[in-house]
Amino acid sequence: MLSGCDGRHNWMAGAGEESAQVKTLFIVLMIGAGVIWSAVVGAAIYAHKRGAHPNLEREARQFVIWGGAVLPTVLVGALLVWGLIILRDITADDGDLTVRVDGERWWWRVIYETPEGDVITANEIRLPIGQRALFRLTADDVIHSFWVPALGGKMDMIPGRETTLTLTPQTLGSWGGLCAEFCGGAHALMRFDAIVMEPEAFDTWLAEQAEPAKLSADNPGFEVFQAEGCGACHTIRGTDAQGPVGPDLTHLASRDKLGAGMWDMTPTNMARWITDTHEMKPDIDMPPYPHLNGARLDTLVDFLMRLE
Ligand code: CUA
Repeated sequence: MLSGCDGRHNWMAGAGEESAQVKTLFIVLMIGAGVIWSAVVGAAIYAHKRGAHPNLEREARQFVIWGGAVLPTVLVGALLVWGLIILRDITADDGDLTVRVDGERWWWRVIYETPEGDVITANEIRLPIGQRALFRLTADDVIHSFWVPALGGKMDMIPGRETTLTLTPQTLGSWGGLCAEFCGGAHALMRFDAIVMEPEAFDTWLAEQAEPAKLSADNPGFEVFQAEGCGACHTIRGTDAQGPVGPDLTHLASRDKLGAGMWDMTPTNMARWITDTHEMKPDIDMPPYPHLNGARLDTLVDFLMRLE
């Protein structure tokens, strides 16, 4: 339980409507469990203290019926119904905006559905405060689980199937998101930021994300990018780089973090990510480029850091 007490990942922070519901359910569940436990243990102590008694058999039967069957059935049944109602609410198939998220090994493909078409990004989810976001979740390879503890419930992401979850954030800030299902080598490094913004700021951000990359025609960094084959896996919209395998890099530098929510987006981390990829994140599909160094590496990093 204590591991959930970090502010950004605290499910009891109640920073979203759904997490507030889960928190209330948890507290009531604990009280309900406490009542059942006290009643059963209290009755057992009472029976022990009475000792031998002419009515012993009848009392024992009463004890089993009320303490062992009726009370737990009523309380647990009520909690179950309440839990199912919350589950129905937080997986309801409607929202003010729709975001599709694909779990990949070990990062997140994020697609906002807008009237003008899909807006593709990765590893960072921004949400407008007070609006109900519907998440359509699936996975590309193995089972992952999508969880922003401070905002709401968690939901499995299953290959070949779509699951849904809603988040209605109520508190501005950058909340921690993570994969909550063991999915292989870099499972513990599969994270993302869920950034809650004012609606106007969110609209501006989404409009910027929808734009192609703003680059000058002859860009030495982009030449390195293409010469090293980065464009075979990554897309930079507005250029020849249209690889569908890895995260979309069109607005890479607009994200707070690098490597799926793991490291600050700085030139130093970016350079290390390119040369020592597997030291930073073992087992991932992206190969390291240890031969890149000096001016060539600087040029590439400078180019990537300008993808805002
Ligand atoms: Cu993906 Cu654990």
